[in-house]
Amino acid sequence: MANLSQGLFSRTADRFFKLITADERLESAWLTTLAHIEKSAGRLILGNLTSQSDAEEAAKIRAHAEDEMRHCEICLSIRPVQKQTEAEYIAYEEKLIALGDAFLYGFMGHPRLVNLADARAAYIHGGLSFEMFPYQIYSAYLKHTRLDAVKEALPKILEEENSHLALGRALYTTLPPEKQLQVSELVDLELEMAYLFVRRIAEVTEEFMGIAKPLSGPGRLEQHLLASRLGSNGWLTALSERHGLSPLQETIGLLTRKQSSEFTFKHSHARAEQLLESWNRERPSIAVKRTLVDHLQRLIDRCDSMAIAHAAWKSAEALEAELTETGPIEDESIWVETHHQFRQTLNGFLSGV
Ligand SMILES: [Fe+2]
Ligand SMILES: [Fe+2]
Repeated sequence: MANLSQGLFSRTADRFFKLITADERLESAWLTTLAHIEKSAGRLILGNLTSQSDAEEAAKIRAHAEDEMRHCEICLSIRPVQKQTEAEYIAYEEKLIALGDAFLYGFMGHPRLVNLADARAAYIHGGLSFEMFPYQIYSAYLKHTRLDAVKEALPKILEEENSHLALGRALYTTLPPEKQLQVSELVDLELEMAYLFVRRIAEVTEEFMGIAKPLSGPGRLEQHLLASRLGSNGWLTALSERHGLSPLQETIGLLTRKQSSEFTFKHSHARAEQLLESWNRERPSIAVKRTLVDHLQRLIDRCDSMAIAHAAWKSAEALEAELTETGPIEDESIWVETHHQFRQTLNGFLSGV
């Protein structure tokens, strides 16, 4: 995702907003999702009221959280459809909310922030970077909505978001230098995650409307992997360990701290290690690298976890940088074999595989 441009983000956001603003049920599902993100952000902020904050700072942080909670209420109140009644729209709304969570917690749970191991510093950095999201997304949304209530409410919310950014900037200067992360790096990270989020919700909406492009090429392995969170985590752990995919290894490591003793995870991990061992014996490494890049890209396309999609993207980028020489194209036979063998592994505990 090197050089992800604001233009690419905006085009993807336009693609999504064009679709949802044509149907009030979809637009309401989106507003419910926004409300959910605002509320979850408010809760996270309150969770950062640590003993490190003095009374004055704690009051500002509390006021910030209250703003986000109010934004939640506003987003809920301006929905043209207050309650979805059709089963497929209820399911669509739930899916969007889950993706909103995956975006917020994926960003806040990124190893760069988690490794700070400091709630106050995480709050300040989160404030500096995640607060960019309303600018990107609300501004794009405002260009498309036809709802007067939204046109009236969102600019007021944006004004308050501006004060949150200002608070983040002011508090940043109070951090000890060793706790000050590169702000530009976090801003890039936020844009990348926001891009993955809007791309995924655009795809999910296209699928819902029956206008998604059919999947081409191999992809069944990825589809089956992603049907099981523990199964795919086991697979990706083994893959990242064997091929030294550090971003993926780091992220999966954080996500699976509590899963590593689960049967599905352990079984999938052990089986993946065996399969990957056989790849290495049988293929020249350049073919394996190319194959891995394409595998990771297919995972990113379908992954509902922004944390994993982002880490997979960074790992694919690092692999691609090593592929300067021309070599064989992706070795599709790997996928046919791997899918066949891995499916047998997953069969015991996955439905629909
Ligand atoms: Fe907000
Ligand atoms: Fe905010």
